Amino acid sequence: MEQTDKKILCIGLVCLDIINVVDKYPEEDTDKRCLSQRWQRGGNASNSCTILAQLGAPCAFMGSVAHGPVADFIMNDFKMYETDISLIVEHAKCSVPTSVVISSETTGSRTILHTNSNLPDVTAEDFSKLDLSQYQWIHWEGRNAAEQVKMIEKVREYNRKQEKSNQITISVEIEKTREPLYQLFPHGDLVFVSKDVAIHFGFQSAASALKGFYSRVRKGAVLICAWAEKGADAMGPDGVVVHSDAFPPEKVVDTLGAGDTFNASVIYSLSRGGTLQEALTFGCQIAGKKCGIHGYDGIL
Ligand code: ADP
Ligand code: FRU
Repeated sequence: MEQTDKKILCIGLVCLDIINVVDKYPEEDTDKRCLSQRWQRGGNASNSCTILAQLGAPCAFMGSVAHGPVADFIMNDFKMYETDISLIVEHAKCSVPTSVVISSETTGSRTILHTNSNLPDVTAEDFSKLDLSQYQWIHWEGRNAAEQVKMIEKVREYNRKQEKSNQITISVEIEKTREPLYQLFPHGDLVFVSKDVAIHFGFQSAASALKGFYSRVRKGAVLICAWAEKGADAMGPDGVVVHSDAFPPEKVVDTLGAGDTFNASVIYSLSRGGTLQEALTFGCQIAGKKCGIHGYDGIL
């Protein structure tokens, strides 16, 4: 099989997003009407699959789901976006993680209130059942990091037995400011680190974050840091910082999942042989387009 015919697999969260669109972010203890309200399949890895599918890349999602009507909504939505969900692990007795999102039409800001009461993440044991020959790229949204490191080690072991052209590219996302996630830095060929994490470590720009974090990544890896309306920067082993400005839409209406859109678009571009500069620019273009629309339909 040609490498580009193989799937891009994203591992991480799928949840329900209940999105309340308001004209202006509400005052505490007031009673207001929304402009609109909708259910949307969410979660970083799940959103990235939605984008990859729309870009035309064969993709697969691996994560946990519960049972019941909300889970049915999620599974049906995955099917509409032609995402392979055969690797989903079901937990009948658990609840679906849910985010209540306040999406402000005036600023495009998204305020997320997330809850996950009891749904466990997929484990290295679940992962060991995969036929790795089906994938060209595997992306991990940093979550249960210690288990994820074990999964990545399985892929490295697989890669050692393959010719270069058949090896799986490994990417990881370190988005939340949680200490255990930082152990993922040395494991990706490509590492996405968020503005939140960068600011938490005292960096005030994407470029300074890249220089500050680069010693944590593995030899030869690429580190990427997106910085909302300032675009995104990347750095590879040559130490040169590559930058793309953001591509703001005429009006920013919905930034929910902009980062997931950016990650997917960068992965897509690199997986098709794009240069780092091309991938960064493409990521910002598609993420910018996303910010101008509600949801993910119409990013192309
Ligand atoms: P998130 O908060 O969803 O993780 P980021 O802030 O990391 O998203 O942004 C990812 C990318 O989305 C940025 O590099 C940029 O290209 C685009 N983006 C985000 N916010 C805006 C905005 N307000 N205007 C234009 N582009 C944006
Ligand atoms: C957006 C998102 C939402 C989800 C939340 C979880 O990046 O994945 O879809 O509700 O983040 O943190």
